[in-house]
Amino acid sequence: MELIKVDKDLCTRCELCIKVCPSSVLAINKDGPYAINPDSCIACGQCTAICPNKSIDNMKSPLSKQIPIKNFPVITSQTAERFLRSRRSIRCYKETPVPKETLLKLINIARFAPTTSNTQGLSYIIVYDKKILEKATKIIVQWMENQLENPYHYSFPRHVKNYMENGNDTILRNAPHLILAIAPNDFKNGRENTISSLSYVELFATTLGLGSCWAGLFEMCVFADYAPLLNLFNIPEGKIITGALMVGYPKYKYKRLVDRNPISIYTI
Ligand SMILES: Cc1cc2nc3c(=O)[nH]c(=O)nc-3n(C[C@H](O)[C@H](O)[C@H](O)COP(=O)(O)O)c2cc1C
Repeated sequence: MELIKVDKDLCTRCELCIKVCPSSVLAINKDGPYAINPDSCIACGQCTAICPNKSIDNMKSPLSKQIPIKNFPVITSQTAERFLRSRRSIRCYKETPVPKETLLKLINIARFAPTTSNTQGLSYIIVYDKKILEKATKIIVQWMENQLENPYHYSFPRHVKNYMENGNDTILRNAPHLILAIAPNDFKNGRENTISSLSYVELFATTLGLGSCWAGLFEMCVFADYAPLLNLFNIPEGKIITGALMVGYPKYKYKRLVDRNPISIYTI
């Protein structure tokens, strides 16, 4: 099947599809655009999404799956800024579990994040059972304890102490759920794509009344290939964990937006 289909009657030969294509896939002749490099198409859908007349279709990113932008609500930059700044890392969760459908809706947004050359390529494991997370914390504490003389991260002694002396989980924060991003073990862009995709998840979570936090300590133990931890999760053959996010209902509401370091910009 041909990659590109053009309705000659609708095409005005404006060449917008050619201009926005990131991979120089298209050229034009008297009949309109056609694919000169079909194998280079990364299925980003830019060519079809930019066309004012719906005259071009792309088999790898069909027009039929695109949604007209004019129906979308427009948010002001002030609202957008408030929204972006109101996302916080949540470290105190309610015990109430999140319905599975809500978690599925949440994770679905990850598909729309930018990824290297539109490679996407991630899958997700939802760790729904809190008992598995409790085991995970215990294992991570053991892993940290084994290296107290020379810890990989300065905070390890504190986490071990919190757990051993007070039973406090400062690693997975008693979160009810954990989302694991996984990718094929030979996938070069796994981590970058994960950071981008889980950042979308973090932002979207707030609109569903959910809170989230990167599970960086968990990730350190995963990236150290600590088998007792990895064995807890049924990771499909040939895949590795590329990122982890705690999720649940936040216990408390923040009353203020915080400030950060002033932006540092060099103009050349
Ligand atoms: C890759 C990454 C790993 C992180 N790991 C942890 C973690 O293990 N535990 C934790 O409590 N917060 C973790 N955080 C959250 C940061 O501490 C937090 O983003 C930062 O303090 C800013 O606060 P805010 O997210 O509420 O704005 C992590 C953040 C990132 C981006």
